[in-house]
Amino acid sequence: MGRLRSSFLVAVLLIIVNINSCSRGMGRGRGRAVAFSPAKKLHMRDEVRNMFYHAYDNYMAHAFPHDELKPLTNNFTDSLSQLGNLNLQYLPQNYNGSALSLIESLSTLLVLGNFTEFQRGVMWLSHNLTFDVDARVNLFECNIRVLGGLISAHILASENKSWFSNSSYNDRLLHLAQDLGQRFLPAFETPTGLPYAWINLKHGVIENETTETSTSGCGSLILEMGALSRLTGDSRFEGAALRALRKLWNMRSSLDLLGTTLNVLTGEWIEYSSGIGAGVDSFYEYLLKAYILFGNDEYWDMFHSAYLAVQKYFRHGPWYHEADMRSGKATYWQLTSLQAFWPGLQTLVGDVAAANLSHREFFYVWKKYGVLPERYLLEHATLHPTERYYPLRPELAESTYYLYQATKDPWYLEVGESIVASLNSHTKVDGGFASVRDVSTMQLEDHQHSFFLSETCKYLYLLYDDSFLAGRNFVFTTEGHPLPVRSLWHERLPEAYITSNGTSFKTSRISPLSSQVCPEMIRGAKVESACHVPDLRVNHRCTSDAECGIDSTSCRKRTCSIAGYCGLWRFVH
Ligand SMILES: *[C@@H]1O[C@H](CO)[C@@H](O)[C@H](O)[C@H]1NC(C)=O
Ligand SMILES: *[C@@H]1O[C@H](CO)[C@@H](O)[C@H](O)[C@H]1NC(C)=O
Ligand SMILES: *[C@@H]1O[C@H](CO)[C@@H](O)[C@H](O)[C@H]1NC(C)=O
Ligand SMILES: *[C@@H]1O[C@H](CO)[C@@H](O)[C@H](O)[C@H]1NC(C)=O
Ligand SMILES: *[C@@H]1O[C@H](CO)[C@@H](O)[C@H](O)[C@H]1NC(C)=O
Ligand SMILES: *[C@@H]1O[C@H](CO)[C@@H](O)[C@H](O)[C@H]1NC(C)=O
Ligand SMILES: *[C@@H]1O[C@H](CO)[C@@H](O)[C@H](O)[C@H]1NC(C)=O
Ligand SMILES: *[C@@H]1O[C@H](CO)[C@@H](O)[C@H](O)[C@H]1NC(C)=O
Ligand SMILES: *[C@@H]1O[C@H](CO)[C@@H](O)[C@H](O)[C@H]1NC(C)=O
Repeated sequence: MGRLRSSFLVAVLLIIVNINSCSRGMGRGRGRAVAFSPAKKLHMRDEVRNMFYHAYDNYMAHAFPHDELKPLTNNFTDSLSQLGNLNLQYLPQNYNGSALSLIESLSTLLVLGNFTEFQRGVMWLSHNLTFDVDARVNLFECNIRVLGGLISAHILASENKSWFSNSSYNDRLLHLAQDLGQRFLPAFETPTGLPYAWINLKHGVIENETTETSTSGCGSLILEMGALSRLTGDSRFEGAALRALRKLWNMRSSLDLLGTTLNVLTGEWIEYSSGIGAGVDSFYEYLLKAYILFGNDEYWDMFHSAYLAVQKYFRHGPWYHEADMRSGKATYWQLTSLQAFWPGLQTLVGDVAAANLSHREFFYVWKKYGVLPERYLLEHATLHPTERYYPLRPELAESTYYLYQATKDPWYLEVGESIVASLNSHTKVDGGFASVRDVSTMQLEDHQHSFFLSETCKYLYLLYDDSFLAGRNFVFTTEGHPLPVRSLWHERLPEAYITSNGTSFKTSRISPLSSQVCPEMIRGAKVESACHVPDLRVNHRCTSDAECGIDSTSCRKRTCSIAGYCGLWRFVH
């Protein structure tokens, strides 16, 4: 707080006053009782459905089997090789794409109930996709988009063989995922176990490859690689991802903070400043989600410490700034578009009041510009001079979805309606949906990102129709691909979870998440599991255990820490 500019202080005080008045129904939040009729809900569901098909059909017509659509020129781009590659170095000479946007669309097709198109896509990929291509790709991007997309689609496809009555499904997507996972493994062969950020799918790590990577780049691989190990019985994928994650965690400062970029050969930090946005975001997300999916206490302990440090050093009222991992001193006072996922993560852990508070500020900035700018300077309440784009990002819709699931407050359905209206009016063109180059002019860019199909459309659709989720629990990867929470996977790891014959699992214990209703009672009412956790606190700080509700991952009562945050302390129970 020492570096805080006085103008910013005033702004923050005004915001806090404003939020207080919101709760009395006068501020920028809801000021009236809102109702969202079932007819309106159906109408919104159809609006989102139309958005998805407009994007998907145009991709299939003009870009497939290349990676992504150029919606302004009805053309394609083989962008898997370009993701994260800002200087466009080492681009492949002879690469014709991997049908990236189709892979990303598969689980959304099922969320929309389109079994026939899902089946058609699965069959095409089964026969035509290969990773034996001379292309250098970003490990993180390829993991979350391609490996995650294939694994999720494989699990969903094998759950309902009736979709494949004419042409049986033969686990081909899993074989493809396994092949891809094996191509990832050479990236992990470093003295530290931290993976290179880049890998050539055919030739492995190239000579003189950059040794710099980001925290999210090497710390958010565990969901996809862990699931791949559980599905194949080959523990190398999970082992490599877990080793990297442990190494990264051991590099934290005494304040439990991490930096943003690091050297994979030396294990030294390059950038000591970090926040919850670009370069770090999914690291936090995967600690919690790995705990939910695999039930290993180690993930919970890491998440818990990391979460408390974020709330202590990065949070300022409803906003999050960046700080130096060594001193905890604030560095950059900026809101970035990627940070908007955080309220969704907070909702998942049961910190609903804090999530609600931040979500309202992100939505405020969204409304101020029509869409969310990539960077917004908190001190001046203005756009960043250069990072003024909006590449169809899903994070605000994602958080809105989680908050609606947790609260059923129809206000979030109105937020979704406003997001859909903005997307349709500012980004829809005849040939699909185009990214915004500059939110101050709404000038467009010729790029329809694949995550628009896998995430933005999916989370908006689930706001109005969540029948896909009925009767079960899913963890959504950071790319929006659903992985079902299975009691078989939900056990202590990693030691010897595979039997000596390598084919089956040693133990399985029923996870509280695998049943839809928790056994716990709170204030006489049965508490639903996973995303349906009430938070009884009036603001994001607690004074007593009673204010903390139930932990969404274990269904156990949470306790209020000395620092005033709700958490789960197993020793207490
Ligand atoms: C979210 O904030 C608004 C405005 O302060 C308030 O009316 C609403 O009750 C809050 N919801 C939750 C779940 O905290
Ligand atoms: C479409 O993109 C390809 C690959 O970049 C390019 O070679 C081709 O000229 C483009 N076609 C048009 C009509 O722009
Ligand atoms: C990519 O497409 C071009 C043009 O159709 C073709 O000549 C080339 O062989 C293809 N490359 C691969 C690796 O399939
Ligand atoms: C499934 O998607 C395909 C391709 O967009 C479309 O032609 C078909 O009508 C869809 N089916 C349903 C049931 O929505
Ligand atoms: C494989 O790709 C070719 C060319 O696009 C297509 O004709 C064929 O139908 C595809 N295979 C399947 C099973 O879809
Ligand atoms: C399988 O899919 C069909 C629709 O094609 C659906 O009616 C059925 O309920 C599904 N079965 C399971 C077990 O999910
Ligand atoms: C499967 O069979 C049905 C009816 O026999 C047909 O309408 C459908 O197109 C077939 N699907 C595929 C992918 O071949
Ligand atoms: C790798 O770096 C070394 C030393 O700088 C240089 O001699 C060599 O030519 C480089 N190799 C490639 C393929 O760029
Ligand atoms: C593998 O080992 C497990 C536990 O020992 C046993 O139940 C299972 O039948 C074995 N599978 C094979 C294929 O031998």
